[in-house]
Amino acid sequence: MNIIEFKKINKFFGQGDNRVHVLKNIDLTIEKGDFVAIIGQSGSGKSTMMNILGCLDVPTSGAYKINGVEVGKMEKDELADLRCKTFGFIFQRYNLLSNLEARENAALPAVYLGLNAESRNKRADDLLKRLELGSKLKNKPHELSGGQQQRVSIARALMNGGEVILADEPTGALDSKSGERVMEIIKGLHKQGHTIILVTHDSKIAAQASRIIEIKDGEIVSDTRKSDEFYETAETLEAVKKSKFDVLKYRFLESFNMSVHAIMSNKMRSLLTMLGIIIGIASVVSVVALGNASQAKIMEQINSMGTNTIDIRPGTGFGDRRSARVRTLKVSDSEHLSKLSFIDNATPSVSASGNLAYGSYTLTAQLNGVGAQYFDVKGRKIAQGRIFTEEEVDKMASVVVIDDNTLKEAFPDNPNPVGEIIIFNKKPLKIIGVTEEDNSPGPMSEMMNIWTPYTTAMYKINGTNDIDSITVKVSNNVNSQVAEESIENILTVLHGKKDFFMINTDSIKQTVESATNTMKLLIASIAVISLIVGGIGVMNIMLVSVTERTREIGIRMAIGAKQADILQQFLIEAVLICLVGGFLGVSLSLLVGWAFNTFSEDFGMIFSTASIILALVCSTAIGIIFGYMPAKNASNLNPIDALASE
Ligand SMILES: Nc1ncnc2c1ncn2[C@@H]1O[C@H](COP(=O)(O)OP(=O)(O)OP(=O)(O)O)[C@@H](O)[C@H]1O
Ligand SMILES: [Mg+2]
Repeated sequence: MNIIEFKKINKFFGQGDNRVHVLKNIDLTIEKGDFVAIIGQSGSGKSTMMNILGCLDVPTSGAYKINGVEVGKMEKDELADLRCKTFGFIFQRYNLLSNLEARENAALPAVYLGLNAESRNKRADDLLKRLELGSKLKNKPHELSGGQQQRVSIARALMNGGEVILADEPTGALDSKSGERVMEIIKGLHKQGHTIILVTHDSKIAAQASRIIEIKDGEIVSDTRKSDEFYETAETLEAVKKSKFDVLKYRFLESFNMSVHAIMSNKMRSLLTMLGIIIGIASVVSVVALGNASQAKIMEQINSMGTNTIDIRPGTGFGDRRSARVRTLKVSDSEHLSKLSFIDNATPSVSASGNLAYGSYTLTAQLNGVGAQYFDVKGRKIAQGRIFTEEEVDKMASVVVIDDNTLKEAFPDNPNPVGEIIIFNKKPLKIIGVTEEDNSPGPMSEMMNIWTPYTTAMYKINGTNDIDSITVKVSNNVNSQVAEESIENILTVLHGKKDFFMINTDSIKQTVESATNTMKLLIASIAVISLIVGGIGVMNIMLVSVTERTREIGIRMAIGAKQADILQQFLIEAVLICLVGGFLGVSLSLLVGWAFNTFSEDFGMIFSTASIILALVCSTAIGIIFGYMPAKNASNLNPIDALASE
């Protein structure tokens, strides 16, 4: 039965004037179990023919059938499968992977077959022992002699069965004794049923084959059969049941190991490449943490101003100079608003500045006439005593709550002034409470503030019925924007025109939030640029890595690696570099945050899990994006070109 069939195979190399016709209309059939020697002078086209036979190269024209199947119509992956399962290559210069031990080199083809490590190594050990390399299983190629290396490569050729053994000058680099040993082994393989195709320029070696084909200038000039020794194929790799998942798993594991190996064997280079990613990720995470911290700080201050309140003031806005004189808001407006369903309460307020006298002290203070709910609405807490009641508001009670500034200035020797009487603008007021310290920013925290019921302030102190503003607390489940619009409409109807303006603490909050978000976005985008620069560094080093290992890629392809295996291997390498860089970057920023938080007391960086996860996802994405092009380049290499590279 014919295992190999060449019909009018032509091969050209080069283009234009440099175009050379290397194989000329070759017709050839090789039967199963045969031992064929291809002989010819240097440059006659032997290796070219061998490469086409082994599906490492493709003919320019002509038909090539293996076991009756047309090779020209096969996909790249099917060709890889053929190289993996049908062919076993023995090269003149061994082509072992220098960083793998003898056992790993021999076992490599089974990785691409999807065999697990245990059965792989067992089979490799058996093969190597049969080739008298039992004591050298753990040696790397540079620790082996040429003859020993060639025997490792024979073991590798047999690993997946090696139905057809293709040996291109297998003894070319060996001394005569080792050469004879290798020829003994090859003859033994023939007897075991392997189909052998051997290329040589040495007629003594060719004489050991059953059939000798001589080629000259790309043409077959003679084809002689010396013996009819055909052997049944005895040994094939016992059909191990392998699930698709296992196959993918072992191939992935191999790629992963190779990537780790590649990174570890260039530690300095990998670290420098990572540095870009480390700095990028560390700055993104730190900036976000700092942004969170400052936003939280500002929000805390805004929240201390009270939640969800709307201030209504007369005039058209803060810039309106008439507003101090405009007296359009009435107590009745406040009462009206407080009846609305979406409003928790509304309190009018009036203010007056004046002289506060106590004992020998006379100070300038700000008097605020407010409703009983004021303290609740503004989120002001009481340190001692109590606040005034609704009843006291109704009765215009002469009671007052003072703030801590007033306490300090007017009562330096008396920390408990509740029950004392102070005089404000010549009116006596009884202290019933003291507020806690006010942390909110602005002039309020600097001034001395005292609070009385607004009725007291209006009728007893100011002697008018005008109010300065109304503070409205909107119910929690109501959108403050909608509430603001409704209040505006109602008051406009009541007053006949819009003679007031409103300040919504919620909109202040939103403004601050969006301002800090913009800030964060700005700094984060600078950090992202540094990440892109880091990514370009990764791409650069991956291109170098691919170039350095082109030969390795060629060897892997020759023994059955598919394009996906090569792509995967380099992609994993890029992702690993980036991911490790990402982890180091996150750790760095956590370290910086720890140092920062230790030294700064009132302001701490806030790291969110989300931002850390996002950073790691980002670094993985960078690895994939910037590693893809080099990895794709590697997987697109032609096996034969890759093998030929130095
Ligand atoms: N990639 C290539 N590009 C251009 N020309 C090539 C290429 N590969 C081989 N050739 C040419 O094809 C011819 C045959 O080369 P081949 O390697 O098949 O010879 P060979 O018979 O194996 O020789 P040797 O015994 O020296 O190994 C040579 O003239 C060589 O220059
Ligand atoms: Mg050659």
